[in-house]
Amino acid sequence: MQRRHFLAAAAGAFAPRSSYAAQGDIRVFLNEPIGTVSPWLHGHFLEHLGGVIYDGVWVGEGSKIANIRGVRKALVDAMKTLGPTVVRYPGGCFADSYDWRDGVGPSNTRPRKNNFWANSGILRKLPDSHVSRSDPNSFGTNEFLRFCKLIQAEPYLAANVRSLPARDFYDWVEYCNSPKGSGTLAEKRAAWGDPEPWNVRFWGVGNESWGCGGNLTPEEYSVEFRKFVSWTPNYGQPLSMIAAGPNGADYNWSRGFFQQMARKSPGMLNRVWGWGLHYYCGRTGKGDSIDFTVQDFYELLERANRMEPLIRQHWDVMGETDREHRVKLAIDEWGAWHHDTTAVAPHHLFGSVPTMRDALIAGLTLDTFHRHADKVAMANVAQLVNCIQTLFLADGDRFCVTPTYHVFDMYKDHHNGQAVRSEFAAPRIDYAVEGKGQSLVRLAGSASRNGSVVTLSAVNLSHNETLETSVSLHGAKARSANATVLAGASMQAHNTFAAPATVKPAGLQVSVSGDGLRLTMPAASVVKLRVEVG
Ligand code: AHR
Repeated sequence: MQRRHFLAAAAGAFAPRSSYAAQGDIRVFLNEPIGTVSPWLHGHFLEHLGGVIYDGVWVGEGSKIANIRGVRKALVDAMKTLGPTVVRYPGGCFADSYDWRDGVGPSNTRPRKNNFWANSGILRKLPDSHVSRSDPNSFGTNEFLRFCKLIQAEPYLAANVRSLPARDFYDWVEYCNSPKGSGTLAEKRAAWGDPEPWNVRFWGVGNESWGCGGNLTPEEYSVEFRKFVSWTPNYGQPLSMIAAGPNGADYNWSRGFFQQMARKSPGMLNRVWGWGLHYYCGRTGKGDSIDFTVQDFYELLERANRMEPLIRQHWDVMGETDREHRVKLAIDEWGAWHHDTTAVAPHHLFGSVPTMRDALIAGLTLDTFHRHADKVAMANVAQLVNCIQTLFLADGDRFCVTPTYHVFDMYKDHHNGQAVRSEFAAPRIDYAVEGKGQSLVRLAGSASRNGSVVTLSAVNLSHNETLETSVSLHGAKARSANATVLAGASMQAHNTFAAPATVKPAGLQVSVSGDGLRLTMPAASVVKLRVEVG
């Protein structure tokens, strides 16, 4: 069997799908809770970058494109179906170049500003005045907070630490949260359309402060962080501060920050709500989002699975100082990041057309977060629209959802459930990277329980083999079940503006017997089961 897998992998991108079925075994332990699956684990991220804001979110109030006070209506409608969650804004690296005052007030008085990303990649080919290079600031704090309200999401604002002092951060908090009539900033907020305070709870203190956020050392960053979060006026809304955490496996950044904070005083870590790990699994092969080989496919899934050891190891490092684990992880940037060779518009910096491969990465990653619901309090996929692991593609009046969107939609049944321990067993997949044998798990997933409903999600990582899977529940009996599957004609399957429903969820047969469930998972698929238990 191993030889057979190896040959399939070596055959290249369009190897025929075989009907061979391996065996998978899933065990769900309903009496072994892990933690609540917060809807914030399925959070999002918007940055003033490429086509994210202008094109993706903001079309303008006078636009012929259907909009709600300037925000693309199709996006609002699609986001509403995903259920309440959290959205991070305005960056990313952009946040540490941004003065929030540029994005408030009458739009004709807002300054045009050279965007942080203006001279990056494909944007260099565009005129200096292009909206992605010269930001008109039409979308700012009020517009973002209205968008969050429309989709019932918690806003998460990232403050500028590199190029503005703490005072500007305090003013931003005052502008957003101070009571009506309590001061000039509250009066300005009212004059500009929003009299009631927004009560923003989540605040990021800088972004990637080890890099674009200032090239600081963890020691230097801990000083900045303390200045920003000490005696921050809160106007009756407790603030949850998210510190700029490590880049992938940089354990020295985690250790250095936590040690410095505790060295100042043992209670100092109480001021940190979330520790913002960033991990991009990146790209493989030539980096194209659609044109990839079997080898590229498995390599990228393997890299996506590195999220799990990153969570465990940063958690252990945090625990060296924060023994009670008061601080949780906020993985506020993650995703597969292909080259922009398939971007749907010339200004969609870091944009590409995602395929079923990206859907599998989304499933693997969200399942990892569920399995660590005791450690991860928030996670934000990068980014919501027209960028990196995007959920949507938008260009002018054209709009479609990606396979990653469908995974978020299927997985919303986990929201507010109790994640429970589960085991996923199947023969490993053998593949080769430059002639060197590698292996990868074939089956992964997560389970949660909410009252009499168990939600189980799972990914079959094989590019061409179905998986005959049995599921046993320990702690309750299955009464009935239904299953939904996301699979394409190939692992390269994707949606386009012309064919927006090429990849979409479908029903999947599942049989229920006294001791469990049986189903056949198609190759390269994401499956969700909803099981009534009694
Ligand atoms: O998401 C794109 C960029 O990736 C963000 O601005 C930055 O934080 C990260 O490096």
